[in-house]
Amino acid sequence: MSDARPTGPTWNEPGPGLEALSEALDEAATGVRELEPAARRRAEQLRHAVEALHGSGINAIVRRLREDPRGRELLFELADDPVVRLLFSVHGILQPTPVTESLRALEKVRPYLRAHGGDAELVRVDGDTAFLRVSGTCNSRALAGVTLREVVKEALIGGVGSIARVVMLAGDPPPTLIPLGPVRNRDGGWVAVGTAVGLGERPITALHLERADGVKADIVVISLDGQLIAYRDICAHQGLPINVAQLDPATGTLTCPRHGFCYDARSGACLNSPGAQLTQLPLRVDNGQVWIRVDA
Ligand code: FES
Repeated sequence: MSDARPTGPTWNEPGPGLEALSEALDEAATGVRELEPAARRRAEQLRHAVEALHGSGINAIVRRLREDPRGRELLFELADDPVVRLLFSVHGILQPTPVTESLRALEKVRPYLRAHGGDAELVRVDGDTAFLRVSGTCNSRALAGVTLREVVKEALIGGVGSIARVVMLAGDPPPTLIPLGPVRNRDGGWVAVGTAVGLGERPITALHLERADGVKADIVVISLDGQLIAYRDICAHQGLPINVAQLDPATGTLTCPRHGFCYDARSGACLNSPGAQLTQLPLRVDNGQVWIRVDA
């Protein structure tokens, strides 16, 4: 007896790539556009129904995976696959963060800034406000009266939908940013923050540095395989404190529990959102004493 089941295309492992899938989709979309109006409406209804089904299933899978640490790791790995990444983006699972979008917007104008002797650093994004440090912000003849700050503001407010305000911090961190009440200061912004032994005993140490005039600096020190690394206590996703992150010594990763941003604990590079980055601070050990330069 013959098998009466309908046959469809069979894909060999690992399946068609993004390009082949995109071509097939384009071809099908062109075919639908050429249909009579009534048939086109039915085809669109079918497409929406299939997308809704897939979206619901994918969201359920992602929700379940997010509940488990190993599942979250798998999600990060999966998101590296271009087809999965596209699927996640289509269904709103992967969205560029305001930080990522701001960094991209800055990259677009950076060649222009540098050509005019300037540069810009995104310090953090807080709600609808981006905080930046711009250097070389003087007017120059070449800029015909337009400052580098204005170029940066325009790039961010015009290029990132969620950014409505841009606050420029001083180009060079002002001396008032150098801490700090309970710690000792030294030339060049180096601050003694504790002993290497003490900081090495805890995977993550949050340090709140505050000087008499109320200026504050929050940092975290990560202890990993005998190495100490310092970052500003700011997750690159939404600018919230990163000191609640989980450090996994086996993988050398630091994961923010809020939305799952996962960082290489040694470099601060975000592994699941390329371009996002923790701000690392210079750290050195001198006679067992740990010093961090907070004006970096
Ligand atoms: S604040 Fe969203 S992942 Fe850290």
